[in-house]
Amino acid sequence: MCGIVGCILKDNDEDVAPILFDCISKLEYRGYDSIGLATYDGNIHVKKDKGKIDEVNQKLDLPNMPGDFGIAHVRWATHGDPSKLNSHPQLDEENTIAVVHNGIIENNTKIKADLIAEGHTFKSDTDTEVIPHLIQKFMDEGFDLEHAVRKTIEILEGAYAIAAISSREPDKIVATRKDSPLIIGLGEDGYYLASDSPAILKYAKDIIYPEKGEIIILDKSGVVVHDEFDNPINKEVDTINWTPEMAEKEGYDHFMIKEINEQATAVRNTLTQRDNIQKIIDDLDDVSRVCFVACGTSYHASLTGKYLLESLAGIPTDVILASEFKYSAKTLKEDTLVIFISQSGETADSLKALDVANQTSKTLGIVNVAGSSITRRAQYVIQTQAGPEIGVAATKTYVSQLTAIYMFSALMAENEELLDELDKVPDFIDEVLMDVESIKSMSKRYNYAKDFFYLGRGYVYPTALEGALKLKEISYIHGEGYAAGELKHGPLALIDEGIPVVIVIPPGESHKKTMSNLEEVKSRGAHILAFGADNDYELKNKSEDVFCINSEVSEIISPLVYIVPLQLLSYYVTIGKGFDPDKPRNLAKCVTVE
Ligand code: G6P
Repeated sequence: MCGIVGCILKDNDEDVAPILFDCISKLEYRGYDSIGLATYDGNIHVKKDKGKIDEVNQKLDLPNMPGDFGIAHVRWATHGDPSKLNSHPQLDEENTIAVVHNGIIENNTKIKADLIAEGHTFKSDTDTEVIPHLIQKFMDEGFDLEHAVRKTIEILEGAYAIAAISSREPDKIVATRKDSPLIIGLGEDGYYLASDSPAILKYAKDIIYPEKGEIIILDKSGVVVHDEFDNPINKEVDTINWTPEMAEKEGYDHFMIKEINEQATAVRNTLTQRDNIQKIIDDLDDVSRVCFVACGTSYHASLTGKYLLESLAGIPTDVILASEFKYSAKTLKEDTLVIFISQSGETADSLKALDVANQTSKTLGIVNVAGSSITRRAQYVIQTQAGPEIGVAATKTYVSQLTAIYMFSALMAENEELLDELDKVPDFIDEVLMDVESIKSMSKRYNYAKDFFYLGRGYVYPTALEGALKLKEISYIHGEGYAAGELKHGPLALIDEGIPVVIVIPPGESHKKTMSNLEEVKSRGAHILAFGADNDYELKNKSEDVFCINSEVSEIISPLVYIVPLQLLSYYVTIGKGFDPDKPRNLAKCVTVE
């Protein structure tokens, strides 16, 4: 979704535009269709247009703008097509106020109508344009920029992180937020704001996390925060332990393949959270039911959690899509533990559900981004240790979420054996990664396909769903994941000569039945791509393509390992088709609207 940044430099003689450009480019991963910057040096200067950052930069030379403070934006269109006029920054009528905004102003139609009745003229189709117009109106009435922003947010409904500058009151940036992410960075050379930390990692390590309704004023002397009642407050300053290099490609062609390769480390680092998880469990006391809430890939990690908690700890467990939570979660009780799984910690649907769950139940967030909204609103937090993930398609955050869920389940069930097995997972992942050439050549044989099916049973049923999701997200090939036994209840009608069917088939209890399902599709002409144990000779005989995984990977831990070749398959199929796996069309890394 949209991303915003802002910066005010201490040194009057340095231009801010190159820094703004660098920072906003780091938010490309959030998904966008337009880019824009505004700086000030006596007047407000704006450069913006629709298109990829590189294209727009070639046309407009974005880093070449005068002024030592400014704001920037990448837009993911919600109201109005991607276009120059609809790009941010949005301005007031007199070009004295520039605003960047991430979120949606739900009552923008009414505000616009009221302002038009008062004589305002609008240029864009965006919901955001009402914001500079409201600030203009309040500044015309005599309010300073800070208080004009405060008056403005009294009117706005919806979600927003906003940054505003004004030529009527220069040398400051005023920012605020509600339900959209915003962080403030205290750097050596200046003060920063951003939607997410990778944008400013290079410039500031000390971070303030503003809360809803707080107004933040950044000027050359520092950062001042006022609470919603206009009282100055002292905010805690946290230090980010991520390095700028962690958010760079470091020689890889894409972030996605770099992040796939970092998965053994991500699991190893997340395993260090054991003591923290044990403390949470000790504190939780009485939990008679667990309810996972998540979206997308995090939902698939949650499904594995259901299998683990029910079979190991005997705790009844539900898994609810965050967007369905308000229609479906009607029986939460005091002794229900609601677990929110999220890489970003900012997903709007999950946050809405968290606020509801907090009213009745215990809540736990399993989140990758430190300081994100879920980490601040959940009663307990487990921090996954994947490091920054830039590729839109989640990979290392997924295996880290799984690792945290496995540890939580094993500790709840006091299952030392499983905890010992988890220690072996990083090596098993590395073994898969060493065999990347097999996947590369396998991928070349399937570039023709228009549809794929993915089948798994038991623990690897969610793995099949996640494998299919990875394929469709980045290669735009239709991929459908099914519980292997469910295929004959409908989808089998779609199996035709040559259709690729991915079978995820680790050794263990589910193996025999999945093998029967393999036969069902094979006899109807399907082309089998099997992912199974290296000593599974029956599988090798029956499949056109087999990727072998160490037979010591047991069924229970197989979701942590078997997903890796499926991620690689999606990646290389996508490369073969000439698409950019890091920035799939229409998708965003962090979904901050419901
Ligand atoms: C978006 C991302 C997915 C992610 C989902 C849930 O769709 O592209 O990768 O799985 O949101 O996000 P969360 O941050 O809550 O895990």
